[in-house]
Amino acid sequence: MGNQVVVEPDDPKQNSWAIAGAAARTKTEIEQVLHEYFSGEKPVSFPKETHVLEVASGFGEHIVHFAGLHPDTMFHPTEAQTECIEAIGDLCSTNGLRNLVSPLRLNARSIRSWDAVAKAAPSTGFTGIVAINLLHISPWDATTSLFANTARLLSANSEGKGWLAIYGTFRRNGQFISENDAKFQASLKNRDERWGIRDLDSEIIPAAEAVGLFLAEINYMRSNNFLLVFLFGFPKQRVNEQKSPMLSVA
Ligand SMILES: C[S@@+](CC[C@H](N)C(=O)[O-])C[C@H]1O[C@@H](n2cnc3c(N)ncnc32)[C@H](O)[C@@H]1O
Repeated sequence: MGNQVVVEPDDPKQNSWAIAGAAARTKTEIEQVLHEYFSGEKPVSFPKETHVLEVASGFGEHIVHFAGLHPDTMFHPTEAQTECIEAIGDLCSTNGLRNLVSPLRLNARSIRSWDAVAKAAPSTGFTGIVAINLLHISPWDATTSLFANTARLLSANSEGKGWLAIYGTFRRNGQFISENDAKFQASLKNRDERWGIRDLDSEIIPAAEAVGLFLAEINYMRSNNFLLVFLFGFPKQRVNEQKSPMLSVA
């Protein structure tokens, strides 16, 4: 990893990052695609406990849904914003899910933050990592740091292998995939010029491969979003592309 990066916790200008309730639409379709990863059956059957770390959990709506459907898997939420950490903490104490761990503070751009997460990791390590709607709404070094630290955490688990799932919209080969995305890019840049819709082919895949994360699945989701699954500790393989179950029935 490079030098300590600048951390911007709780910058008041950024406090509209997460919108409470926004996850209601996506949590079901993401869980359907990741079901076997969450239950520890894919990409290999993990013999010990399955532990999933979420980066940028927002208000915790996705992770509480996943934890409710996978009682045998431990889910570890994290966030950079105090407001979100408090909201997830409230969720943890009120929902009675014994497999939802109290949230940790994690700014994906801060090596010190990742060190704290590595220190708090379960003894068998994390088997999978999920990041939903983060890459376009953070500076590029949040993405490279996510990849580098995913490789670091997964290589430390009992099998030395695991998965990373990323949900969001991307450009393909330099092109926006919809007119809406071109407008969305302009609004992101207006809020912070370091934010932006990343290019899957020329930015995301090379940055992931540089640390040994190989793209295994491209799932096409509603509203022109993608759910990408990268594998660590496995050889590069042909990418499996498919529509999410909800798109298939639409
Ligand atoms: C659009 S919201 C998505 C929240 C949640 N994953 C969801 O889909 O509902 C973006 C989230 O990324 C978090 N975030 C932004 N920059 C971050 C960083 N550098 N490290 C960790 N989280 C970050 C924000 O606090 C915010 O909760």
